[in-house]
Amino acid sequence: MTYGNQSVLHGDLIDENVLGKLASIDQALGCSEPLADWEELYLGFDLGTTNMKLVALNERGQPVTAALYDSRSSIRDGVIVDYIAAIDGMERCLMALRERLGIDEFPGVGASAYPPGISRRTAEVCANVVEALGFSCLGLYEEPVVAAVALGLKRGAIIDIGGGTTGIAVISDDEVVYSADEPTGGTHVTLVIAGALGISFDEAERLKRDVNSHKKVFNIVRPVFEKMGLIAKDHLTKSGFLGRVPVVVVGGGANMQGASEVISKVLGVEATLAPYPLVVTPSGIAECLWRRCHGGYCK
Ligand SMILES: Nc1ncnc2c1ncn2[C@@H]1O[C@H](COP(=O)(O)OP(=O)(O)OP(=O)(O)O)[C@@H](O)[C@H]1O
Ligand SMILES: [Mg+2]
Repeated sequence: MTYGNQSVLHGDLIDENVLGKLASIDQALGCSEPLADWEELYLGFDLGTTNMKLVALNERGQPVTAALYDSRSSIRDGVIVDYIAAIDGMERCLMALRERLGIDEFPGVGASAYPPGISRRTAEVCANVVEALGFSCLGLYEEPVVAAVALGLKRGAIIDIGGGTTGIAVISDDEVVYSADEPTGGTHVTLVIAGALGISFDEAERLKRDVNSHKKVFNIVRPVFEKMGLIAKDHLTKSGFLGRVPVVVVGGGANMQGASEVISKVLGVEATLAPYPLVVTPSGIAECLWRRCHGGYCK
């Protein structure tokens, strides 16, 4: 489903177990059968600007299933602007899970995440969506923190290329010590392809998601990734962490062959593309929830 699994050397930065777990979750997105047995479910609800993502782990913390649906404009810049549409979007993910698992009710709990820099009250709307869907929301986390947990990083810079924005955050000991969000994301990449090739947004989106087209369109979109690199460079320089911490790129917007290389070149330090970048944040939400319920450390 995603490009980040292919021909990317994660070196010592990303552990084999992390790689295996993210690979399973990515596989689960397109799989109609559960990947593992389960008695209890730990559900990570990621209310993204472009995609609603839902990841379910079992009582042993193993991936069971996952779903992704279009957010249909219910979220803008990571903030819920249409509460009912956000609930409907997540309900569609839950319907897919019910069908796959053959259940009506979920024996489990939920958690969600929000972009750094928004008010606590705005962030709590994410928890309200989880509760409105019938779950106890036992965790409400900052997105870069859960991404770092999913990747097993204690310290590092996370560049999250979502649909509408690029988020930059520095994590140290599971705390966000610097964060910023700027309005250039995967949607801009699609718009540039559509404009250059004279095709519709939907056609351009299909082309962008097709790994076999990446070589053909990459030169067209290179300047957009250069801009994202410049944004990241500017903020990491301001933060004082550029060159002092490992940099990892996550988010579906980074899911393009060549993207992290362009960003690395602009940054002047290596930016490693996370394996399966689209599922890192929702996986981290479910992981933090599972750890919380099983005594593991997760703020
Ligand atoms: N297989 C795929 N499925 C869905 N989206 C994909 C896929 N591959 C690439 N993308 C791109 O991922 C981008 C959205 O990424 P992601 O789901 O991480 O963002 P989001 O969480 O919805 O947004 P944000 O974090 O900014 O609120 C879109 O630009 C989309 O084109
Ligand atoms: Mg996101």
